[in-house]
Parts: sequence; C-alpha cells; structure tokens
Amino acid sequence: MSCFRPLELPRAGQRRKTVKKICLIVAVVWCALLSFTAFVPFRELSLDTRLPSLGPQSPVPAVHALDDGLALTPPMGWYPWNIFGEEPQNEKLIKEIVDALVSSGLKDAGYAFVGPDEGICFYRQADGRLTTNLERYPSGLRGLGDYIHKKGLKYALYTDAGTRTCSTAMPGTKDHELEDMRQFAEWRADYIKIDWCNTEGQDIVKTYTTLHDAQHAAGRPVVHSLCSWGDGYPWRWAVAVGHLWRTTTDICAPGEADWARAIRIAWANEKLSAFAGPGHWNDPDMMIAGMPGMSETQDRTFFSFWCLMAAPLIAGNDLRSMSEATKKTLTNLEAIAINQDPLGIQGKVIWADGTISLWGGKPLFDGSQAILVFNQGRHEAKKQIEWPEIGLDAAASCYVRNVWTQETSGPLTGGVTVSVAPDGVAMLRVSTKNDFPLPPIIVADSYLVSLRSTGSAPQKLSGAITITNKGSAELPLWKVGEGLPAWLSVEVTKTGKSQKFTSTVSTAGLKKGLYHAVVRADNTEPVSGKPMSALYYDVDLEVARDVSGQSR
Ligand code: GLA
Repeated sequence: MSCFRPLELPRAGQRRKTVKKICLIVAVVWCALLSFTAFVPFRELSLDTRLPSLGPQSPVPAVHALDDGLALTPPMGWYPWNIFGEEPQNEKLIKEIVDALVSSGLKDAGYAFVGPDEGICFYRQADGRLTTNLERYPSGLRGLGDYIHKKGLKYALYTDAGTRTCSTAMPGTKDHELEDMRQFAEWRADYIKIDWCNTEGQDIVKTYTTLHDAQHAAGRPVVHSLCSWGDGYPWRWAVAVGHLWRTTTDICAPGEADWARAIRIAWANEKLSAFAGPGHWNDPDMMIAGMPGMSETQDRTFFSFWCLMAAPLIAGNDLRSMSEATKKTLTNLEAIAINQDPLGIQGKVIWADGTISLWGGKPLFDGSQAILVFNQGRHEAKKQIEWPEIGLDAAASCYVRNVWTQETSGPLTGGVTVSVAPDGVAMLRVSTKNDFPLPPIIVADSYLVSLRSTGSAPQKLSGAITITNKGSAELPLWKVGEGLPAWLSVEVTKTGKSQKFTSTVSTAGLKKGLYHAVVRADNTEPVSGKPMSALYYDVDLEVARDVSGQSR
C-alpha cells in the first residue's frame, strides 16, 4: 500500500478519506494555523504547493536546544521509504541494506542511522505493549538492533504521533507515549522518526513535547525526528523537543524520483535557514539521489543542495544495486564535509535570475565558505561570480576548490567563472588559503560491547571498539562521561586518527543477571573549538552465576 500523498494536497487529510472528512480536517488545520499566530509573526501559506513561506526571516525563538549532544551535525543514514514503501520491508531486506551500507563505503563516509520505516515491524498486544512482527522480523526488533550496532551503525525506528501510522497498518503512540518510548529504548533505537498521520484533534506542540518527555524518561539517548511535513511550523518550537523536523511534504512516491518536486522542496526549505543549527535541523526529506528517474547530473545537484542546506543526509535509494556513479556522489567526502561542518549553518539563496541561482551563506569551520551555482535552464550557462556577491572584498585573493571536479584554482582576484550544465551545479569551496581540510567524519567498528562472565569467582572482562575520524585532523582524546555503573570502567587510547575505547567490567559481587550501560563520550573539533556530537555505545554484561567478592 502506498503512503504517498501529493504535494498539492493538504497533508493532514489522509488517503482514502471522504469529502466530509476532508472538510473536517481542513477546518482542524485552519484552527491549528490560527492557534499558531503566537509562534509565526508573519506567514503566507500557499495551499497549492503547501511549501513553507515565512515572509521576512524571523529570529529563532528563545527556547533551549537539547543538551544531549546528539545530532550536532546533520544525521546521516538510510531509510527505506523512498525506494521501497512499506510492502517489501522485512528483516532480510534491512540486513542486506545494512551490509551494503558497509561494503559500498557509505558507512566510511559517515552514514550511520539505518532501520525500517513504516515496514509493519510491530503490533500492539492486548496488554498495550508493542511487540515485534516476527513474521517479517524473525530476530525481533532488538535482534535487528544488535545486528546494526555490531556493524558500527546506529538503529533507526519509525512510529506515529497519532492513533495509527500513515498506512494504518501499525499502531501510533497516542495514549501510549511512555510505554512505547520504553519499548523503543528496549529495542535499543538510537533514532526515532515520529510521523503525524491520524492525529485529528491533537495539539501538535503538546503531542511532540509529550513524546520528547517520554523519550527522555525512557532513559536512552535518541535522535528525535519530527515528521509533520511542516504542519504546525515545527521550526518555530521543535528545537526544544527534537533534533530535526520535516519542513515539507514527501519528496516522492515510493519507487520513483520526482526531480521537479525535489527542486521545489529545495527552494522552500532554503527559506527556513535561520532555524537550523547544531542539534536542530530543517529536514526537507530523505534523499532521492540514485533513485530511478534521476540522471547523474541531477544526483549531484540534489546531493549538493542537501549538503549546502545542512539537511539530514538520509539516503533513500536501493544501496544493493546502486551504480558506481551514485556511490561516488553519495560518498564524496568534500561535499559531505560541507554538510557536516561543525558550525552547522544552513546555506540559502543569494540571488536568482529565473534560470541561474547563486546559493551560499555557508561559512565553514576553517574560515572558508561553500557556494553553489545552479542552472535551471535548458542550455549550458557560463557565469562570473564576483567576490562581493559572496561577502568577500573584490580585491581578495582566493583559492577555489570545485567539490565535484576536485580541482583547485587560484589565487583568483575579483571572482570566479563557472560553466554549469542544465540541471547541474557548480559547488565550490572558496578560501584565502590553498587548503581545504575536512571536518570530523566519525566511523565506528561497532557500537556494542557484549561480555559474559562464566563462574562464581570474580572476573575482569574487556571489550573494545574503535572510533576513527575520516576527516583531516587527529582529534583530542574523547572524554568519557561520568555516571558509569560501578562494575564498568572505560579507557580511551589513541593511535593517529583512531581511538580505542576499552570497556572493562569487574564482576565481583554481582548477582546473576543481565547488566547494561550506555557509555557517552564527548569531544571538540580542534579547528573551530565547536563541540562534536556525543558518541554513545552500549555495553551488555551477562553474569551467568552469582559472583563472590565485594562489588566495586
Ligand atoms: C509519511 C512520511 C514518509 C513515510 C511514510 C510512511 O508519508 O512523510 O516519510 O515515513 O509516512 O507511511
């Protein structure tokens, strides 16, 4: 069953609804819009496109971003919806994709979050608890999570804030917020996308706040992805309760890319640039690069936009069968570096003449900046970009790195001339130095340490994971957070760009049972001094028999 809803339709109205229901929903949406006057000082909603329009940029409201250290750069990963929809999703498929993430090099380029979207993966039992759909996911959702963690990836799951998910095939979280978030924590989810279908009559701010509080109470650090397609203007308030929020309708129907729609979404999303920043991102939806219907040029252009707009880089193509060209595009570290920049500034349009547009406003951590020139015309275009157009002195002497040709030119004064193919972009990094360092791109060999003690005599058991920076710098030593349980200690050692976390458990005095801890570590990007996303991993200890001795 397809969950696609066209851009032109109000999204709160779901599929298969009667005219009466649509009228009711329009009325509810209208009331919701009115009730948001307090948040949105000026707006014009174009109902034919349903793309956000804010009028003059207004400042981010004085609400506090989350202090969990999560998603301080845009999340990267893969979600099944764009290519598969719900029908083919099952454990075998997700595991194949996980394996392809690793073997294709996407993992080494920073893609980490992966899991089923609306893949009919759980039911609600009579006692109210969620339970895995074992027909589709025979290892259970916890088993799938462990598989993902052991591959050095992070586990993403999906649910809905209303009574049912969009297809209505899965239960929503309404009235079960705390128990569901506890269940997601038990399954070891690191990322939860929460949709906004079947929420008639629900207050959006209250609902997502309840869900955030429930996630917090469940005690597991989770990237919270709000998916209301821009309904309720989440960019105005969701910084306090989530890490990213969808800004527009679905980017395509499952299975086929829609280039024109994607470009309209890019133009809509850029207007919200003032609202994005470390830990809170505008999400113009999962990527369509590599999907049927996209040319190589369009793939690169699409990816360039998502990188420049600091959008979450959630791939949506079939990783098992992607072409070399798509792989090269999705793993271009120079483009990813712009997306993962520690300053976390969302780029935007500088000027547009109807055919050519210049996008920029994206200073980077090393003092350079990223720009792109987009050609929406039918013919190759040649354009001179003058330095003052991108905030530089006309007399400045700069080096220009072309992110796609990977050539550097310069020093140049006055500006730079680019040739851009139809549907194409020139994406450039401009710097006064002939040096274009990459910010941190963190890759783990595993996010799970599993240990098992055997006898009743005290034992010390250790397991290690290695964290590597694929960016340019050797990072300072990661600092392990406080509050580890008495049975666990963690030591970090460094060899160049890799750091080894050795987790040692001491079983003295422990009773038979299962023990679990989440280790947090923090770091700072050395060039900008900005905090990096916190690193979290799980330690599981199984104590097979009561152990003698004093617990530490
Ligand atoms: C909504 C979301 C999509 C996808 C589907 C699943 O349409 O916007 O990204 O999760 O639901 O039904």
